[in-house]
Amino acid sequence: MHADPAECGDLALWLARLGIDLDRFLAFDRPDPMTRMSAWRDALDGPMPERGAGIATVMRELGEVVIPNGSQIPNPASCAFITTGATTVGALATLAGSVAAPQRVGLTAFHFLEALSLSWLSSLFELPAGMEGVYSSGGSVANLVALGGARQQAFERIGIDPARDGVCRRGRIYATAASHHTIRRAAAVLGLGREALVLVESDALGRMRPEALGRVLDADRHSDGLPVAVVANAGTTDAGAIDDLAAIGAIARRHGVWFHVDGAYGLPGILDPELRPLFDGLGFADSVVVDPHKWLGAPVGIGATFVRDRSLLARAFTQTAADYLEGACTDGEADHSMDALGVPYADFGVELSAPSRGAVVWALLREIGADGLRQRVRRHNAMARQVAARVRAHAELELLQPPTLSICCFRFRGDGRGDLNALNRRIHGALLRRGRAMPSTTVIHGQLAIRPCFVGARAEMRHADALVDEVVMVGRAMSRGQTDLAESGFLDHHVS
Ligand SMILES: Cc1ncc(COP(=O)(O)O)c(C=O)c1O
Repeated sequence: MHADPAECGDLALWLARLGIDLDRFLAFDRPDPMTRMSAWRDALDGPMPERGAGIATVMRELGEVVIPNGSQIPNPASCAFITTGATTVGALATLAGSVAAPQRVGLTAFHFLEALSLSWLSSLFELPAGMEGVYSSGGSVANLVALGGARQQAFERIGIDPARDGVCRRGRIYATAASHHTIRRAAAVLGLGREALVLVESDALGRMRPEALGRVLDADRHSDGLPVAVVANAGTTDAGAIDDLAAIGAIARRHGVWFHVDGAYGLPGILDPELRPLFDGLGFADSVVVDPHKWLGAPVGIGATFVRDRSLLARAFTQTAADYLEGACTDGEADHSMDALGVPYADFGVELSAPSRGAVVWALLREIGADGLRQRVRRHNAMARQVAARVRAHAELELLQPPTLSICCFRFRGDGRGDLNALNRRIHGALLRRGRAMPSTTVIHGQLAIRPCFVGARAEMRHADALVDEVVMVGRAMSRGQTDLAESGFLDHHVS
């Protein structure tokens, strides 16, 4: 019996129990949690306990009430978000880190894997030689960190340290309407202001028009705005389009402006040989972002930023000294894992305490290798193309944007009459309630699109086919005015 009321061991026992509950959850053979929401809320709601219930009770409630009412995101029928369900090794490595290395610091194997996995990602995705990385919680923070480096460089060039003194001049970040919406927030957090975002004209697929970027940069030479960064997309969130990285990168370089590539979702697309040429301009990048918690199948909470010059990040995110940390390290030879903090990742971003994410990425790549990830990316891209092919061949469906990566935007048009946006909104609602195919929606040129995005390791070609079948079936029924589509009698028809 140890002194603390919390159980701090017996992991084998409790993990075995948790494993059974999680495997059961992953079968996705129970109704959607929403249908039982009042039951699970009543079971969980209660006052802050004065006396603890003990681990056995917690584990029982986790297994019986919490886990079964979790998210549909890992369900292979779900193709809505770009984050996905963790693979088994990703979940296990996360747990291993949280138990054996609760911080990314110190001379530990976990810390070593932080650097090793970052260098693996860099070579896997053919990033410019010498780029160095840092993990953070996901794409939004990874972009913020990269743009922090860009801001540092731009202001230092005019003799100002923005991290020390703040920004005294209007900054400009050149992006497109298809750029992730959190880029605007990053501009705000960096003190540049949301209005620093200059939206450069894009083409019908949402790709930045390089000549428009050139024009805007030329015009800005005579304005008081300080160009901070050009943000290109290697895979837009809405439709998976890839900007012309070579042309945009060359223009950014010519104007001496930091070139940032947001590949949070799409960078792994470089592994698909058919798409490889689209990534040619990566060599121009000053910073690149990729999210292991998207296509790589890591548990949510892992993004990575790569930059050419990590010392810029150190200056951008400088922390003042902390005695409790300085005192923890010896100056001489380290002979204990806590004698030195190792690579100071905390100086390259916005987090001090952070989990050991490198071990997770290492585990994912070690398990399936480059070849395994290549297969996954190709399979998912082929699934989006399969959806597109079936949509093109079907008179009642309409392709709204041809896929580049693993997203395909289309809609049900039926006989083309009526408000198709409203119809597709209703179709989407029915799809979610039925649970056989759960895409998201987006808007393409004002038209509401059904938007499957295939990134989950569990998603296979049959899920792409099932999605098209579902949309046709539900769309036809909705067009006939049928509304009770969640009813089971409706489920057994087959439509091709
Ligand atoms: C292109 C792109 N950038 C950034 C993000 C933000 O990533 P996160 O949700 O991990 O913060 C996303 C999310 O989907 C994205 O698709």
